[in-house]
Amino acid sequence: MSTFRLAHLSDPHLAPPPGALRGGDLFSKRLLSRFAWRRKRHRHNPEILEAIAADVRAAAPDHVAVTGDLTNFATPEEFAAAADWLESLGAPADVTVSPGNHDALTARRAPERFAPWSPWLGDSLDADFPHVRVRGRVAIVNACSAVPTALHLAQGSLGAEQLARLAEVLAATRAQGLFRVLLVHHPVAAGTVSGRKALVDADLLRALLREQGAELVLHGHAHEALLNRVAGPAGSIPVLGVPSASTPAGGHDPAARWNLIHITPGAPAGQQLRVEARGVAQGARIEALGAYTIAA
Ligand SMILES: [Fe+2]
Ligand SMILES: [Fe+2]
Repeated sequence: MSTFRLAHLSDPHLAPPPGALRGGDLFSKRLLSRFAWRRKRHRHNPEILEAIAADVRAAAPDHVAVTGDLTNFATPEEFAAAADWLESLGAPADVTVSPGNHDALTARRAPERFAPWSPWLGDSLDADFPHVRVRGRVAIVNACSAVPTALHLAQGSLGAEQLARLAEVLAATRAQGLFRVLLVHHPVAAGTVSGRKALVDADLLRALLREQGAELVLHGHAHEALLNRVAGPAGSIPVLGVPSASTPAGGHDPAARWNLIHITPGAPAGQQLRVEARGVAQGARIEALGAYTIAA
């Protein structure tokens, strides 16, 4: 019985490269985000992010899931910088990105449908989410909740079309007996974040999951370590969130961490999922924070 090792990190909020913050976007959401970045920049530290990325690489996982907010303003310069960063994590076939709300800001110059990241979205050139990547007995189902939102909001939405396709994909991968890992930037369990930051069609997603199931859901956006559960067709589905991968210890937000998730499909119930949490303790030193098994 082989174990698939999946690394999950999220919300790196890579520091904007020079040129990403140039003017010309007055009165846009990006301008407001720019102020937010000035306020929050100390919460996202490149040195911390590099330490986390190096720790992920050293663990040599079978696959890496990055659940969004790679950028801050969704500029072309940031998309290019994020692509370079993704290259550093592993081969595109081994790294999957689910975009976040920051990657979809109301952006005059934003890349269409996350095009610069297409090698990391899925295996096909099909532009539509969800993308599915089957690796051994694991299906990585990559949904996208990132949509441009109104000012001051950080909401997400999957939309009716994506939800319909997601139902088909979850049913098909279930029929194949695959261990289904759903990636989505926004939290799925009710009440995880405020309405201003929530997935607006989360109730529809939960109804879909109750019917079609999934074996694990991974998200970001909340910038904290979370383990919730939502109802599935037989028992509940674990929903795991991680803090931002670039946040220093000792600040307002939980310090950077990532999860190394050991998935053993076919193992007895309650032994299929083991999570090793790793993160910054002090400075940029990464250490093991603990490990636990997720009950069925
Ligand atoms: Fe974020
Ligand atoms: Fe977010």
